[in-house]
Amino acid sequence: MAETTGDMHNEIKEIKKIGITTGGGDCPGLNAVIRAVVLRASALGIEVIGIEDGFGGLLHDEPLGARTLTTRDVATILDRGGTILGTTNRGNPFSYPAPGGGLVDRSGEVIDKVRALGIDLVITVGGDGTQEIAAGLDRLGLPVIGVPKTIDNDLAATLETFGFGTAVQVVVDALDRLRTTAESHDRIMLLEVMGRDAGWIALHSGIAGGADVILLPELPYEPKAVAEALTKIYAGGRHFALIVVAEGARIAGEGVVTKTVEGALAGRHAPILGGAAHLAANRLAALMPGLEYRVTVLGHIQRGGTPIAYDRILASRLGVEAVEAAIRGERGVLVASFPPEICTVPLSSAVGKVRTVDVGGQLLAHARALGITFGVARSAS
Ligand code: F6P
Repeated sequence: MAETTGDMHNEIKEIKKIGITTGGGDCPGLNAVIRAVVLRASALGIEVIGIEDGFGGLLHDEPLGARTLTTRDVATILDRGGTILGTTNRGNPFSYPAPGGGLVDRSGEVIDKVRALGIDLVITVGGDGTQEIAAGLDRLGLPVIGVPKTIDNDLAATLETFGFGTAVQVVVDALDRLRTTAESHDRIMLLEVMGRDAGWIALHSGIAGGADVILLPELPYEPKAVAEALTKIYAGGRHFALIVVAEGARIAGEGVVTKTVEGALAGRHAPILGGAAHLAANRLAALMPGLEYRVTVLGHIQRGGTPIAYDRILASRLGVEAVEAAIRGERGVLVASFPPEICTVPLSSAVGKVRTVDVGGQLLAHARALGITFGVARSAS
């Protein structure tokens, strides 16, 4: 970690300029946060500087990736997917890709540039990786307030994240389409969805989309148990089925399925997941060769496009509350949603742990009561 370049916490008397940055994978609702921050800050006479590409915008060669955001700049972005500031998974200033290869610590430069821009505090909109960077910069004296985001809904410090609802809706739309073609062709349709180590997207979309089987990262599955469930469905006279496969799902006793993509891993903190649905289809085909299997991998379609109304509201409230927390003098906190309240929690509570599906919880029990199978070899599965 770089040497601290001074403690900015002690220098703050009044907030006059706020920086905002979006880091990590994008998700629908980021622009709604940016808009809310600009609207609330502007109403309070505070200038907002948008920092581009995570903190990477401060480490570009000239011109600097940072610009003033006015209410005019955010007038039409509420419903726009992505982020007008850009984002990256490779912008960690503590381990920044060096031009000649390898990684270098450039956190001190980031703090110097923030100070040179006259920014009093930075709002960091991001997932656990981004909030870990934010917590590190906060420890070095850069005042930070985090806003959680991820389609995965797996941040430990908040009960919900915007982007998740939109991703679930995208998956449900896909399942509704897959059902009609599955029925026409008497096929088993497997749909692979995102979520990394958490099965929230798979579980919610599977329930809403009428899945027969949901394979979760939290419950390593037995292909034989899935095959038995399919046999029962066919014996009951229905000759098609829908299986939702979380990208982090794994067969009991085996590892998660990852992808190797040339050049894509430099500076990333996590491997790229992918292939879980194809593996499940192959194992099922070996057990039940008479059936027809087709695999759809939804991928980044789940991350793009217009946020649903719920995500816009949540994102807007988080943005407003981040500014309110800043002017209350809070630092090193994350704005979190514990419905019906939006509150602040220590930034450190968002770092290093994920919130996964409670396999003994009521949501899973209700899914089982609907006849959904999780591929676990037990009578209740
Ligand atoms: O964390 C959000 C997420 O979309 C995960 O669900 C997924 O595994 C990952 O990001 C994909 O990352 P990338 O866009 O870098 O491939």
